Amino acid sequence: APSTLAATPPMGWNSWNRFGCHIDENLIRQTADNLVSTGMRDAGYTYVNIDDCWMAPARDAAGKLQADPTRFPGGIKALADYVHGRGLKLGIYSSAGTATCQGLPASLDHEQADAQSFADWGVDYLKYDNCNNLGRPAQPRYQAMSDALRATGRPIVLSLCEWGENKPWEWGKQVGGNLWRTTGDIWDAWGRMTDILDQQVGLEKFSGPGAWNDPDMLEVGNGGMTDSEYRAHFALWSLLNAPLIAGNDLASMDYATKRILLNRDVIAVDQDWGGVQGHRIARTGNIEVWAKSMSDGSAAVALFNRGDTTALASTDAHALGLPATRDYAVRDLWTHEDAETSGAVRASVPAHSASVFRVWPNKGHGQTPLSTFSLQVPE
Ligand code: DGJ
Repeated sequence: APSTLAATPPMGWNSWNRFGCHIDENLIRQTADNLVSTGMRDAGYTYVNIDDCWMAPARDAAGKLQADPTRFPGGIKALADYVHGRGLKLGIYSSAGTATCQGLPASLDHEQADAQSFADWGVDYLKYDNCNNLGRPAQPRYQAMSDALRATGRPIVLSLCEWGENKPWEWGKQVGGNLWRTTGDIWDAWGRMTDILDQQVGLEKFSGPGAWNDPDMLEVGNGGMTDSEYRAHFALWSLLNAPLIAGNDLASMDYATKRILLNRDVIAVDQDWGGVQGHRIARTGNIEVWAKSMSDGSAAVALFNRGDTTALASTDAHALGLPATRDYAVRDLWTHEDAETSGAVRASVPAHSASVFRVWPNKGHGQTPLSTFSLQVPE
């Protein structure tokens, strides 16, 4: 059977959040190298995605998109070869409009030619934006690119960057999208991250293997939030089955950033093969409980404190939808410590942060040692 594209949420890196239009082929090559040397590739971050501003200001004489000759003199094919040589995949960007958001040539009414260029170059992922769309209806614009990509015969992940304007969660899968943005752009601020989180409530039923809600790319490590806030951002995005697309400068990552992006216990929550999106199960004042059912019968839970002071938060096995058993094993996914509980999950959660746990029924009392069923733990 053919393997599903984006069977789990895509993971990788994208140039936009940190670099905007200040990109070139050296940055992309160095980022590919850094994905390998930091261990991020082996943790699952395989897509190296070039966002807006890679293309030349005009199409070539044959009407094809071409790479900017100054910033990408080697062209996209050579870059794809380089990236593939490191066990990674290359993503690229265009818009379902007459021009990209930065005013460069884009793919509306050029879908077949551009999809063929992408396939010929060895591109593995297309982020397809929504700028300069002439007011034409969204669905056919995205369908046209989806059909054109399919016609090339190359498996290319299709990311619908439609900003949630026409409820793409209702039609994104039908038009062949593998993920669809649910909101306007994220920026590197606590208030914006939590705004986007609030807009995810109720969307969980539209997402599943091969077709994911996309609350936008990660800002972890970009400097506008504290490490606690970035932990909350990363944990909540993982519970949402969000694509984990890092957006920071991998050449200058500090230790705290690495600890977040490379936390395999949290990544495992995002990448669970069952693909059941987590959702908010409780909200009291500044405390929210978000939970996700995992395919091994466990539950992942984030105790999220939106307030400005440390607060106690709790939930229990019943609220998490776990069966009633004598005891449960619980793992703190930040400290990687294991404990047993009769069902309660409690934490003192720092301001603007999230404590994250995974709770397994029937694993306590020294039956199976925890280390044999837990997922890969770093360090
Ligand atoms: C709007 C998108 O939502 C962003 O993620 C980014 O791709 C910019 N356009 C690029 O111009």
